[in-house]
Amino acid sequence: MANILCIGAGYVGGPTMAVIAQKCPEHRVVVVDIRPERIAAWQSDQLPIYEPGLDEVVRATRNKNLFFSTDVDRHVAEADIIFVSVNTPTKSFGQGAGKAADLQYWEQTARHIRRCSLGHKIVVEKSTLPVRTAEAMERILNTAGNGHAFDVVSNPEFLAEGTAIRDMQAPDRVLIGAHDTPSGRRAMQAIVEIYAHWVPPERIITTNLWSAELSKLVANAFLAQRVSSINAISALCEKTEADVTEVARAVGLDGRIGSRFLNASVGFGGSCFKKDIKNLVYLCEYYGLVEVAEYWDQVVKMNEYQGRRFVSNMVSAMFNTLAGKRIALFGAAYKAHTDDTRDSPALGVCRALVAERAQVVLTDPRALENARASLGALAENVVFEPDPIAAACGAHAIAILTEWPCFAELDYQAVYATMAKPAFLFDGRNLLDHRSLHHAGFNVYPIGKPPLVHVGERRPGGGSFPAP
Ligand code: NAD
Ligand code: UGA
Repeated sequence: MANILCIGAGYVGGPTMAVIAQKCPEHRVVVVDIRPERIAAWQSDQLPIYEPGLDEVVRATRNKNLFFSTDVDRHVAEADIIFVSVNTPTKSFGQGAGKAADLQYWEQTARHIRRCSLGHKIVVEKSTLPVRTAEAMERILNTAGNGHAFDVVSNPEFLAEGTAIRDMQAPDRVLIGAHDTPSGRRAMQAIVEIYAHWVPPERIITTNLWSAELSKLVANAFLAQRVSSINAISALCEKTEADVTEVARAVGLDGRIGSRFLNASVGFGGSCFKKDIKNLVYLCEYYGLVEVAEYWDQVVKMNEYQGRRFVSNMVSAMFNTLAGKRIALFGAAYKAHTDDTRDSPALGVCRALVAERAQVVLTDPRALENARASLGALAENVVFEPDPIAAACGAHAIAILTEWPCFAELDYQAVYATMAKPAFLFDGRNLLDHRSLHHAGFNVYPIGKPPLVHVGERRPGGGSFPAP
């Protein structure tokens, strides 16, 4: 039996530890956090995050071999293995602001572990960190002069929100990096043994520490790059009457390219893609690799362009003014099946429309509370409406910003009847059946496809297609 501790009870710490507790009933798993309200929520029936399947796993393990606590000191002292899963946001101040990872929470944790430890421990980096962070972690942990040796292991997390439980239960791979020393190998083996309870051996890969740390940043950069690539092509499709879905299908059927992550959209969001690419860019700049930094920075720039392009298409399609017009935004979460609104493209669009003085009505099945908090003072200018039909009533336009299945199930003929005319629909996720919407009376503007407008209405940007 091992005492496993996780510091940080967020979107990663909670679900990953719940699954470890479920799969390793002989181990005792404790999750701690400095936010008492978060811990109280983990102990209640209303978990602090929405994640499909999470309730069941927590119900099956909580107070058996899974515990939540704010008593960091006590649980650090008792732990054999400590996963560190604290937030590592982009730094917003000082050197590296807007790019570098803000490592203050991570460093506080390292110092806390050192202060409360009475014997040897394995410290596992679960948070996403700049490459070579383990070196700093080891220096902090092993310079206490108290004679306790710590082994630092990197075990980055690849789960995606909305599918976190499934991703944990059946991961594509588990990555574990450690030093190639006798104690490094022993520490690595201890972490391998945890995952070996349910992950096939060929899916548990081991590397040196720096490769593990860097692979996490690279995986997110490659995924985000695919979204930016198809979004860049969506802009060209809109100019040429090509259809981005058809292009993505034709390209993705090439086995070397693959079909996943080629859905054109209003842009990628979430707490990690932008942050991790910015961090990669910062690291490249730090090492003097200017061209490499510029290459990756373009992925973020393209994403920002896509969001701006979406809003400017709205403005130009709606006669160059949105002032006073009611616009229903369908979706606040950065993707479906999560309540997370961190860096959500939907909120970017919301902010831009408020700046255009539109009357914005925001609807989302799970994320309205987080959206209100994320928008801060701007929330005063936004109506939060849980019912999409009510949100659309009297609106000049609907914009689909999150691909929630419930938005695809609405009776758009009936919705159209309640809207101001001409009624517009901007599908930022290519979620809906555009032909039947057009048939129902909407002027439809998908991403990367020709708009379906009624006679007398123009394509965004105006004008006709240029002669070939
Ligand atoms: P989060 O903000 O949801 O959770 C982090 C938690 O750590 C917070 O509850 C915070 O209160 C707590 N914390 C901060 N400092 C602490 C301290 N000193 N002691 C105890 N608790 C402390 O963040 P998250 O989304 O779970 O992400 C955590 C890390 O995992 C980040 O590095 C992120 O990049 C990475 N990651 C996230 C995802 C994801 O889908 N969200 C996926 C893979 C990796
Ligand atoms: C992503 C990665 O997929 C995870 O492997 C990683 O662990 C995680 O980041 C992290 O480090 O935090 P996540 O951000 O939860 O997971 O969600 P994704 O499914 O990757 O989607 C990210 C964004 O890209 C969303 O806004 C989504 O709507 C958008 N997206 C995705 C597209 O616009 N098109 C696509 O084809 C795919």
